[in-house]
Amino acid sequence: MSVTKEQVLSALRDVQDPDLHKDIVTLGFVKDVQIEDGEVDFTVELTTPACPVKDQLKTEAEEKVAAIDGVTAARAKMTASVRTRGGFGKQEIPGVRNILAVGAGKGGVGKTTTSVNLAVALAKQGARVGLLDGDVYGPNIPQMLGVTGAPEVQGEKGIVPPEAFGIKVISMGMLVPPDQPIIWRGPMLHGAVQQFMRDVQWGELDYLVVDLPPGTGDVALSMAQSVPMAGAVVVTTPQGVAVSDVRKAVGMFRQLNIPLLGVIENMSYFACPHCGERTDIFGTGGGKRMGEELDIPFLGEVPIDTRVRAGSDEGQPIVDAAPDAPAAKAFLDLSSRVAAQVSIQNTRVLRVVQSD
Ligand SMILES: Nc1ncnc2c1ncn2[C@@H]1O[C@H](COP(=O)(O)OP(=O)(O)O)[C@@H](O)[C@H]1O
Ligand SMILES: [Mg+2]
Repeated sequence: MSVTKEQVLSALRDVQDPDLHKDIVTLGFVKDVQIEDGEVDFTVELTTPACPVKDQLKTEAEEKVAAIDGVTAARAKMTASVRTRGGFGKQEIPGVRNILAVGAGKGGVGKTTTSVNLAVALAKQGARVGLLDGDVYGPNIPQMLGVTGAPEVQGEKGIVPPEAFGIKVISMGMLVPPDQPIIWRGPMLHGAVQQFMRDVQWGELDYLVVDLPPGTGDVALSMAQSVPMAGAVVVTTPQGVAVSDVRKAVGMFRQLNIPLLGVIENMSYFACPHCGERTDIFGTGGGKRMGEELDIPFLGEVPIDTRVRAGSDEGQPIVDAAPDAPAAKAFLDLSSRVAAQVSIQNTRVLRVVQSD
């Protein structure tokens, strides 16, 4: 008796996506089932190429299908199509599926470093990524990515964002000479951010990462009012004093109705480059505890590494320059956790919309 498509789908119903808490058939991930004699080929289309459990799902799916009577080979092809939560009455940026903010609170905790490495890490995993420097007063992104020079402006079509490390980038630092102070009033700031969203040719993007400036949340507010936000990532350091900043940031995102994707603890510990020994300079576990207390996911910790700082200064993000360094691995890991959280939030929204 030959193997049927129904048998294959039924076997795949036993494979659960651990983040979305549903089986991959119900989630609509299984596509293009081909059966020839006992050989089964099928596609599993995930919600992000940066899925942290991609390999696990592939193995499990192939094992389940291989266990069907009469199957001699089972091959899953893993692909991804990043979904969007939709506009909810706000004007989407055409082609841009998910806008993610990285914030907030005081300067120097590593927001920009995280934005840059997160964006490059997502692109390395196959996503189409843009990076918008929301810090119009103190734009650091051009330096951190080594992008100098003004972007091309193509008349009606708008501003062409330069590309670096596989991502599209825009920053006020590309438009204003480096040593010229930038003095803005509130409405101008709103205008600049709006222009970056609307007048830049982003094209098709799975993720647009927005690096938020330190401070009061003007940029977050301006964005939340005008475009649908997929979520926000909060960056903190382990010092006790950072706790109240995070609490404020979380409060702000909640007030703006921006889903919280999670908290990252940066400069978490020092790993000795010689012996690898870990020193918890500021204590340990603060980010995790904070996540629990505030009921938001803890996305991971990034160690202090001089290569992170040097890479930033030289326009060489560590995830690209030294991908095997513990700090780079940490950024890569947490980028897939961020992507997973976006998928979780989007699935949650879709479910609400469907059940209405
Ligand atoms: N994990 C890290 N290890 C070493 N230096 C870091 C790390 N994260 C950030 N830095 C450095 O700390 C400084 C502040 O980081 P930055 O990303 O600009 O912070 P923010 O955007 O929050 O103001 C920069 O010089 C950066 O290179
Ligand atoms: Mg910054």
